[in-house]
Amino acid sequence: MKIIVTGGAGFIGGNFVHYMLNKYNDYKIICLDALTYAGNMETLEPVNCNPNFKFYKADIADREAVYEIFEKEKPDIIVNFAAESHVDRSIDNPGIFLQTNVIGTGVLMDACRKYGITRYHQVSTDEVYGDLPLDRPDLFFTENTPLHTSSPYSASKASADLLVQAYHRTFKLPVTISRCSNNYGPYHFPEKLIPLMIANALADKELPVYGKGENVRDWLYVEDHCSAIDLIIHKGRVGEVYNIGGHNERTNLEVVKIILKELGKSEDLIRYVTDRPGHDMRYAIDPAKIHNELGWLPETKFEDGIKKTIKWYLDNKDWWQHIINGEYKDYYEKHYSRK
Ligand code: NAD
Ligand code: TYD
Repeated sequence: MKIIVTGGAGFIGGNFVHYMLNKYNDYKIICLDALTYAGNMETLEPVNCNPNFKFYKADIADREAVYEIFEKEKPDIIVNFAAESHVDRSIDNPGIFLQTNVIGTGVLMDACRKYGITRYHQVSTDEVYGDLPLDRPDLFFTENTPLHTSSPYSASKASADLLVQAYHRTFKLPVTISRCSNNYGPYHFPEKLIPLMIANALADKELPVYGKGENVRDWLYVEDHCSAIDLIIHKGRVGEVYNIGGHNERTNLEVVKIILKELGKSEDLIRYVTDRPGHDMRYAIDPAKIHNELGWLPETKFEDGIKKTIKWYLDNKDWWQHIINGEYKDYYEKHYSRK
């Protein structure tokens, strides 16, 4: 079995590459990644010498480059993680989100049609459903919840999902889509809430909480996301969407306070800053379909996952310090000085 993993130098794609190479010693894993600011070869260092692993630096929206790789590798399965993934950046610069997330997805599926594959899997997000109100804890996103996006990021992901479904209906491309809640764990880029707060707390820097910190996210340990995708690409029904989430809802403020407590730091480090425009209030997944059809259940509770994650950031300071001391520093200063 040969799998092309796009975006494999990023957070979830990188974890997926590690997960698959550990689990299947007869699979070939080909990573295709443009190495944008979010891609990091240090994430792939543990697998670089693995004979079952190969890396191509390429943009998924570059048709010629993508076709060349498909022609050469003749993959069985494509798992598309490659994306611009940060909501705040999509507010500053929506164009690149359309280019990678929509056009890039189209190019990959054209390559699948041209060269033939057994499965194209699109890694999507619960953000395509918009948000839920804080005063209705009984509501959850199901696969039938209408798409109702808030940010250029989520709109680009929803557009890609629609394109994937259209290629299935029109061209009979064997596709599946998964829509996952917020992930956390090792190799998470420090512009996102959890790693940013860990890094700032360790440096005794302020922890910038948007608005009142009341927004709720449904946190999933990244390895549980990987196991769900592994199940879907092998056993999921073609043409179907599967929601992935684990009933681990926390307000942002709760998350920040847990991190401070684990690190023995004072809550005085919290600074409430200007809210994100269009900020989604609550995301919460109903994972009944993937549980009932494929038997998937998350293994890691938030209390354990956050401890493991903090330990990873403590044990792997080089990995994230190279990022925060590099070009990301300019983004951080620009973004948070405006708040
Ligand atoms: P990330 O930003 O950490 O990584 C994205 C990767 O894609 C990087 O390695 C980057 O170099 C690569 N990439 C970007 N543009 C590319 C292009 N044009 N061609 C090739 N490679 C390109 O993102 P992530 O958090 O790992 O998210 C991965 C996927 O999962 C995304 O599709 C995202 O929408 C989805 N998702 C993420 C979360 C989350 O909590 N992080 C939750 C649900 C779904
Ligand atoms: P983020 O990690 O950007 O993921 P998403 O927007 O895709 O859910 O943000 C998670 C939550 O944390 C979101 O409600 C915004 C909030 N947040 C802050 O309060 N401060 C920050 O500095 C960041 C990056 C996010």
